[in-house]
Amino acid sequence: MRRYHVTTFGCQMNQHDSERMKGMLESLGYSETDSRDDADVILFNTCSIREAADNRLVAHLGHAKRLKSERPDRIVGVGGCWAQSVKDEVFARFPFVDVAFGPGQVHKLAEFLTSDSLTAQGFFEFEGFTGHLPAKRARDFQAWVQISIGCNCVCSYCIVPSTRGREVSRPPGELVCEVERLAADGVREVTLLGQNVNSYGRDLRGDERASFAELLARLDAIDGIERIRYTSPHPKDMREDVIRAHAELPSLCEHIHLPLQSGSTAVLKRMRRTYTRERYLDRVAMIREHVPDCALTTDIIVGFPGETEADFEQTISVAEEVGYDGAFTFIFSPRRGTEAATLRDQVPHPVKVERLERLVEVIQRRARERAQRFVGRSLEVLIEGPSRTDATRLRGRSRHNKVVNFAGLGSSGDMVEVEITSATSQTLAGTESLLARAAH
Ligand code: SAH
Ligand code: SF4
Ligand code: F3S
Repeated sequence: MRRYHVTTFGCQMNQHDSERMKGMLESLGYSETDSRDDADVILFNTCSIREAADNRLVAHLGHAKRLKSERPDRIVGVGGCWAQSVKDEVFARFPFVDVAFGPGQVHKLAEFLTSDSLTAQGFFEFEGFTGHLPAKRARDFQAWVQISIGCNCVCSYCIVPSTRGREVSRPPGELVCEVERLAADGVREVTLLGQNVNSYGRDLRGDERASFAELLARLDAIDGIERIRYTSPHPKDMREDVIRAHAELPSLCEHIHLPLQSGSTAVLKRMRRTYTRERYLDRVAMIREHVPDCALTTDIIVGFPGETEADFEQTISVAEEVGYDGAFTFIFSPRRGTEAATLRDQVPHPVKVERLERLVEVIQRRARERAQRFVGRSLEVLIEGPSRTDATRLRGRSRHNKVVNFAGLGSSGDMVEVEITSATSQTLAGTESLLARAAH
């Protein structure tokens, strides 16, 4: 039996594509191994979003190079955004790589492995979505669904438009079929993926045309799907119909990830985000009006070129005012080929680090304060497995996407009621309600 090993970097889109790579390899008769040393096919699904991602990849590739020199019949493959951004250069820089492919070319991996090709090959023209490919899901009851690829925005710091190209939406009928199939296969929770999910459908024509809110309604109607999540919306496209859908559609979860990036209108302008601080806060007010209990999370970049202390304080004040349930915070990283990499007034590294620390302190304090609203309540939790810190307890997620560690009797994939007894900035703790269990 030939074995494969996949290392995945980057976002959920890459996790989704890696499940497709694994599914394809299994249908070709390969089996997964936990150790790269034992693998006949060594794959990397790469990310290029920040410099740190590139550096980590180089260290991993060094390991693959050693393994390849020990046994030259092994295959080393590199897919994803970094591969797409360097294209055929990958073979000159890393001569031990046999196959390289971009995010729109995952299916070529199977073609390469079943051909007798002895020469290295690269595949970088977008040809299609990976949704129809067989998948090996990490959990039976949860699935990713890719609704669009690419991005039509021009955020000046971001490499994604150059690695994943223009936005292309999948027709709604095809997505409904895919989610019906997943439901029939035992999936209870789906997460819709796109770089900018709420501009979904604008490129579709005729009968296929549908807005993101319409797509949500059609997916909500599918029997067996109890939770729908999505990531990420862009604040400029966040419309009232989608916000209302959170209040109206039973399966659409009470959580919105709304990337802020900066709280300073001047910085937002140079980022080419096309919204102001006020417009962003207006969206937040609309969310809180329609769905008062909605969890809000965000992405923030500190140290964008030209960010002054006053600009940064504007970001801190949005973080204080909104009170996010959680946030991903990043130090600005200049990326090749992006506009922001060429801007003057790059912020010195120690200043970036100091700002990140101050921001994280505010984010965590507000998240801890916000989380107290759950204490004393009973929340619906989808069990994902044992707790990471205490194997006698269970771990799951609430509809708000909060991790809940609790004492209980359920198994992975069960939906249970948990009485919340305490909350930190990151997690909730509690006990499964046996009364609710008896009533079921
Ligand atoms: N399309 C998604 C973004 C994907 S990248 C969206 O707009 O939500 C995820 C996050 O990485 C971005 O939201 C941004 O906060 C961060 N990011 C992107 N490029 C970056 C860069 N050059 N330096 C630092 N952080 C960056
Ligand atoms: Fe995902 Fe962007 Fe990284 Fe590509 S570059 S893997 S789209 S985060
Ligand atoms: Fe990047 Fe902005 Fe698109 S962060 S993926 S250009 S929405």
